[in-house]
Amino acid sequence: MKGKTVLITGANTGIGRATTLALAGMGAKIVMLCHTRERGQKAMEEIKEKSDNPDIDLLVADLSVQADVRRAAAEFAARYSRLHVLINNAGVILPNRVVTGDGLESTLAVNYLAPFLLTNLLRDRLKAAAPARIINVASGIQRALDFADLQGEKRYGGLRAYGESKTALILHTYELARRLAGTGVTANCLHPGDIRTDIFRHYTGLFKLILSISGPLMRSPEKGAQTPVYLASSPKVQNVTGRYFVNRRPVKSSASTYDESAARRLWDISAELTKLEINMEGTL
Ligand SMILES: NC(=O)c1ccc[n+]([C@@H]2O[C@H](COP(=O)([O-])OP(=O)(O)OC[C@H]3O[C@@H](n4cnc5c(N)ncnc54)[C@H](OP(=O)(O)O)[C@@H]3O)[C@@H](O)[C@H]2O)c1
Repeated sequence: MKGKTVLITGANTGIGRATTLALAGMGAKIVMLCHTRERGQKAMEEIKEKSDNPDIDLLVADLSVQADVRRAAAEFAARYSRLHVLINNAGVILPNRVVTGDGLESTLAVNYLAPFLLTNLLRDRLKAAAPARIINVASGIQRALDFADLQGEKRYGGLRAYGESKTALILHTYELARRLAGTGVTANCLHPGDIRTDIFRHYTGLFKLILSISGPLMRSPEKGAQTPVYLASSPKVQNVTGRYFVNRRPVKSSASTYDESAARRLWDISAELTKLEINMEGTL
């Protein structure tokens, strides 16, 4: 990975941190996009020391805030002319419905709309680096999108919102692959497995208890990083695009993720919700 620039979100903890450490160990230049400066700085110093790779940079952004996503993309573009690998890893599960300052349901905003916006804002940097790779960390939890209630205004459940946001991310990955055909930029997504992290940090009570009991059955963040690291670095997948991976193998995602008209519809809604202000047809 020497000579490659990698941008990864949610890089300070869990699967993102393990992925960052592994890719830093392979000699990549890593830009860690983290939620807070304090947590990001601490993780960056530890990763520099452990990987013996000083070539690690930090961007700070709250991905639930679109102005922050735009600022982070602009900061990246000002510092770097090429982006070889973009890993949209950050994610949340929220037991109760939270609305962001942009007026959007938070799970959809962080897990799906932020990757949509960040990827689009950095498309020129990706194309300039071709062959380049976009990797979206999705999940095995997938639920068909309810276009009439995309933001859970009528009915909200944490896992439901999470499953829909990850389905949106998969639909988006396949749509990206179609739109990027011929550019040398690939787009793939993955389920990292059931991994022992603090992703359920916002939950309490019985659910948390069940999770703590099942914790020992789950796999380590290092195991969770194996598929993203493979997709970011292996020559075997250099030309593979529009696929969903589990355990480093392409497998089928849920049926609704293959609905191309839903993917186009979602793209248009997302461009509106993120005020993309660019005619994407023909450019991406
Ligand atoms: N663990 C699993 O079993 C599992 C299974 C399937 C898919 N996944 C997916 O894997 C990815 C990584 O999750 P994980 O399990 O490693 O969980 P995690 O340890 O909770 O990591 C999530 C990361 O996302 C960041 N993040 C959350 N909200 C953010 C925001 N508003 N702005 C910026 N960053 C934000 C967190 O930063 P802070 O900690 O600083 O808030 C953290 O770095 C997620 O997309 C998750 O959905 C995980």
